[in-house]
This record gives sequence, C-alpha cells and structure tokens, in this order.
Amino acid sequence: MLTDTVDEHLLRSSPRLRVVANMAVGYDNIDVDACTAHGVMVCNTPGVSEEAVADLAFGLLLACARRIPEADRVLRAGGWKAWSPGFMVGVDVHAKTLGIMGFGRIGLAVARRAQGFDMNVLYWDKVRRHEAERRVGAKHVSLDELCRTSDFVMVVLPLNAHTRGLIGRREIAMMKRTCVLLNVGRGAVVNRHALYEALLTKKLRAAGLDVYDSEPVDISEPLTGLDNTVLLPHIGSATLESRRKMAEKAVANLLAAVTGSIPDDLVNKEVVSHVARHTDVILPSLVDEPTRDLERRVR
Ligand code: DGY
Repeated sequence: MLTDTVDEHLLRSSPRLRVVANMAVGYDNIDVDACTAHGVMVCNTPGVSEEAVADLAFGLLLACARRIPEADRVLRAGGWKAWSPGFMVGVDVHAKTLGIMGFGRIGLAVARRAQGFDMNVLYWDKVRRHEAERRVGAKHVSLDELCRTSDFVMVVLPLNAHTRGLIGRREIAMMKRTCVLLNVGRGAVVNRHALYEALLTKKLRAAGLDVYDSEPVDISEPLTGLDNTVLLPHIGSATLESRRKMAEKAVANLLAAVTGSIPDDLVNKEVVSHVARHTDVILPSLVDEPTRDLERRVR
C-alpha cells in the first residue's frame, strides 16, 4: 500500500524479499535506489486509474468553486432560511483558466474534462508534450506564469526530489486571491504551512485536497478548521472499476516477478541485471538467460 514505507531498514530486515508490487501509480513510499541495491524489484500500476482520478479531480474543482460540501453542511445545520441573492454564492467554472501542474496521463485526462467546460487550459511540466497539447488545446507555460494567471491550479505531480515543496510561499503569493488550489498528486508537493496561511488570510479563495504530506490526516490538522477547504481522504482512484484493475495489475506484477518473468510495470529496470547475477532460487528463468539479453528485454 502507498502508506507502507519500504526503506533500507525494512530491506535489511527482509533478506528474502524479491519484489514490492505497489498498488498505486506513485511509489514515493519506496526507496527505489535501496531496493535496486538489494536486488528487489519495484512495480507500480500505471495506466488504469487516471480517468477515475481525473473525475475526482474535477469533482473537487466543482465542489470548491460552487461550495458544494459547505452548502450541504449549511442545509443540514438548519442554515437555509430563504433564497437570497448572496446565499452560498460561488464562482463560475466555465470559461475560466485552469493551470495543470504535471501533464502526464492524469493531467491530460483532467484537461479533456476541462475542454467540456470551455476552460482555457494551461500546463506546466518539465517536458513539453506537443501531441497532448494539440489534442486538448492546452498551452505550455512557465510555472510562474501558470501561478499568476490561473483561476484554478491543479497539482497532479508525483513526489520526488524535484517536486517536494515545489509550491511554497513564493508560488502561492503569485496566485490570484480568487484562485482555487487543487491537489490530487502528492501532498508534499505543496507546502502545507504556506497553504494554510494563505487560506486563513484569504490570499487564496479555497483549496481542494485529496493528498497530504502525512496520511492519514489527523482531525487536529488545522486545515480541517477552515470552511474554504474541501478535504478528501486520498480517494482519487477509489472506484470499483479502477481499484479492481489496480489490484489485478499488482497481482500480475507480483506473479511475474516470483515466477521468473519481468513484470510489465517494473520501475527499476536496472535491477534485472543485479537479480540475474545474484538470484539462485526465486527467479530461475532470469538466471538462465544472459544478463545482456535481459537488459535488452526491459529496454
Ligand atoms: C496512485 O495511484 O498513486 C494514487 O495516488 C492512489 O490512489
């Protein structure tokens, strides 16, 4: 699971471990380099959950813009006394600018949904994705321009050494006071303290989060005390269909690894040569083949 940490300590205490099949696309819970050094294969589950995550991401966007959870709370608390022009007023979504940070499978799926809402889509990613841009009419901009000009900023980035804390005080200060920040990637990409301050002092309109730097979130987390947040318990991929496919993929990866094949979703491909050199029990067919050939197969 993505809340299980696989690190040097675990690896040292599990000398017979050969494969870690994460049931998630992200694998920031795993020290991949340490796994490689210990000859442990790391697998993830790409390509089966992005549509579900994009649905949820867009749901969060709508929930924040139209204050849907807050309105539900108000009604249940007996706060709906009359229709009035200023009661529970949100902001338009259609024709606004959506800035997507991270333009992989999920970012692209979010952009497709935004097209249906007639939104102007900007994106920032370290690599330019020309084909994807053409498909959804998205424009590549710098991170700063995205922060400055977006009405909605959607973070879909994985967590790694480059993205940890990428969105901090400086970036949030560049955003419009009317901006809504959404995060369905990984919590630690956004500095939680900077976000809290900005929401508290209304330097941002709202935030919709599905991910946090520490999960599960404790009820004492200050963000839970703010009305201008919509907080979900990391349910981006939580549909029956998506979770079933993720589980099937994780099992297939696991079985491949323990029966001597190369898993489809092997993250640390360089581990194969290590496994071929050192394994004598678990992966006999890998051992039977020359390392050179194995390396060619995973390329
Ligand atoms: C993933 O696949 O990495 C998601 O965060 C799990 O819901």
